[in-house]
Amino acid sequence: MPKQLPAGDTSRIALQEDSVVLVLGGAQGITAELMVRFSKDYPCHYVLVGRSQDPRTQDLPNYTALKTKEDIKQQLIREGEITTPAAIEKRASDIHKFNQILQTIRALEENGSTVSYYSLDLRDEAALHTLISTLYETHGRIDGVVHGAGLLEDKLFRQKTADSFERVFSTKVTPLRILVEKLQADTQFVVLFSSVASVYGNRGQTDYAAANSVLDRYAWELKNLIKGKVTTINWGPWKGTGMVSPTLEKEYERRGIALIPLQAGMETFVNELKYGNESQVLIMAE
Ligand SMILES: NC(=O)c1ccc[n+]([C@@H]2O[C@H](COP(=O)([O-])OP(=O)(O)OC[C@H]3O[C@@H](n4cnc5c(N)ncnc54)[C@H](OP(=O)(O)O)[C@@H]3O)[C@@H](O)[C@H]2O)c1
Repeated sequence: MPKQLPAGDTSRIALQEDSVVLVLGGAQGITAELMVRFSKDYPCHYVLVGRSQDPRTQDLPNYTALKTKEDIKQQLIREGEITTPAAIEKRASDIHKFNQILQTIRALEENGSTVSYYSLDLRDEAALHTLISTLYETHGRIDGVVHGAGLLEDKLFRQKTADSFERVFSTKVTPLRILVEKLQADTQFVVLFSSVASVYGNRGQTDYAAANSVLDRYAWELKNLIKGKVTTINWGPWKGTGMVSPTLEKEYERRGIALIPLQAGMETFVNELKYGNESQVLIMAE
């Protein structure tokens, strides 16, 4: 059954129970939060992609009650099995990621959706190519795509290495060529998560700004290929979740740059997806 829209609702998005929404980088951070909110209005099948292993396949003690990375580190120290600070840091970071992924899957399911999670590195073109073919073979459709995968490795330009530049740049850009090649014309929407860094630039982010600029430009190419909407969102920094660390948060506050509050940002996102008709929108907090 197509979702019943309220009278006068002009949203062109119509997702049914068996619709498929592919979310690159969708298991953690702001993308996860936004898709959980979106799934309240549009419960269907969500396909989440990230490099992390699927936590449901890992033989791990249950750490889900530990909410912060600091709590997890303290627990690992108490357990005493790992002793070096670097190993504790790495393990805590993995467990924190697993917790977020589990939480996202659970929240989507609680909203009435079904979820599959695929572990792959989006810089691997062949792997994404195969995944999209598999989705069309299995479900016969991909109704929407949100590309929210990204990472920061900020450094001044002269200190950047080619490998680091490649990681930041390719994570955002490599999936685009595959999407252009593989998505069928009946896809209802493609949303690319870009950043204000591509509009204004940002210290230490030549790689990240360049990658996001490609996203902004590529949206125009995709728009020629699918019937649905294609939008790049140049997000300002978000508060309390995602890649903005507490240190970076303080730096933004010091510079007078307001951070997007989660609740308000979620509503803006859903409204933009439902009703917006621009190819590129910049969303910042006031
Ligand atoms: N947070 C902000 O304030 C902000 C501001 C402007 C723009 N944005 C954009 O919004 C998007 C989401 O940001 P976020 O803050 O939510 O980031 P985040 O919390 O760091 O999440 C990034 C996601 O991308 C996945 N990912 C990273 N590299 C990957 C790769 N090579 N292959 C597959 N998955 C990969 C990560 O999963 P794994 O670690 O499991 O791979 C994770 O799920 C990004 O594109 C970012 O540029 C964010």
